[in-house]
Amino acid sequence: MAVFSSMLKIIRKGKCLFLLLLCLCVVAWIATFSNDGPVKSVQEGSSPLDGQHAEGFHRLELESEMVQSIEERVEEPPTKESCPENSPLLRGSLKLTFEPSLTLEQVEIENAEVVEGQYKPSDCTARQSVAILIPHRNREKHLLYLLYHLHPFLQRQQLHYAVYVIHQAGDATFNRAKLLNVGYLEALKDYNWDCFIFHDVDLVPENDHNLYMCAKQPKHLVVGRNSTGYKLRYKGYFGGVSAMTKDQFHKVNGFPNSYWGWGGEDDDLRIRVQLQKMAIVRPPPEVARYTMVFHNRDSGNQVNKDRMQLLRRTHQTWKNDGLNSCSYKVMSVHRAPLYINVTVDIGQPEQAH
Ligand SMILES: *[C@@H]1O[C@H](CO)[C@@H](O)[C@H](O)[C@H]1NC(C)=O
Ligand SMILES: *[C@@H]1O[C@H](CO)[C@@H](O)[C@H](O)[C@H]1NC(C)=O
Repeated sequence: MAVFSSMLKIIRKGKCLFLLLLCLCVVAWIATFSNDGPVKSVQEGSSPLDGQHAEGFHRLELESEMVQSIEERVEEPPTKESCPENSPLLRGSLKLTFEPSLTLEQVEIENAEVVEGQYKPSDCTARQSVAILIPHRNREKHLLYLLYHLHPFLQRQQLHYAVYVIHQAGDATFNRAKLLNVGYLEALKDYNWDCFIFHDVDLVPENDHNLYMCAKQPKHLVVGRNSTGYKLRYKGYFGGVSAMTKDQFHKVNGFPNSYWGWGGEDDDLRIRVQLQKMAIVRPPPEVARYTMVFHNRDSGNQVNKDRMQLLRRTHQTWKNDGLNSCSYKVMSVHRAPLYINVTVDIGQPEQAH
């Protein structure tokens, strides 16, 4: 019996304890609806997950604010202003020198800012990106003189540019026009150039107001050279150095591939330009002056006897003979400090029929 009564006592005490706890709970619950300090701690304690979520959310917001401000910073000042329309660095007519002792190392040292044949102004954004294409074979000394004069010349014009030397491998007859097509196609693999300058290796510009930029129409840059008394060789002449935009050159299907040996290919390009109802523009004669570094015509570049016959058919052939039919094999691309050497096998002339 004694055991039974003591158990009853414990249960009764338990009931009291239970009631007490219940009261405390009710008080605590009421307290959660008021905004006092201790309530907050109850809230936080009661829903720790919500607290974490809120904190996580806040962090996300902070992060997106940071991203935004970084983006703003990227878009803001660092974009350089476009280079002025008239470069302040131009000097006009230049006294050209052709030192027999000049070396490539010397020219490299003087043009330390040119990297792998490419340069862009450091303090402004160039108005055009220009690829200079120089067809080449066995004219190392001419190339050296041209690089020596051309690099500082282009830098004074504040251009973004690259110099490509398109080297014809093998001993087939020289084909200037096809090499220029190859140069155009290969240069576009490096960068989306605005403008292409088709440049003979033996012509050095004398006046840096002769801008190596493209115009709304195809541009011919050689009005005169010392070897012709600074007169245009003939009306319609479009050889030596010319400038066309990517669109202009594409529109005429580039140069013909079928002119092997010296002559005719530049007239073919002029006819293509005329067929597309474009005009050829030239800078003033006092500016468009060149020095032709003297040389004998090399073996492997004999006069092309077929050129007159080919020129009569240009209006029929241009659509199928050009960029769209230019087949070649790149043997190597070597990025030297001052130029990109694209060595290419362009095949052989087709047998005359
Ligand atoms: C043109 O100038 C170059 C360099 O001075 C010289 O080698 C060449 O003989 C000149 N040509 C003529 C025809 O005067
Ligand atoms: C271009 O590269 C070819 C192949 O390596 C070489 O034979 C030729 O001399 C190079 N030409 C120039 C101008 O660097």
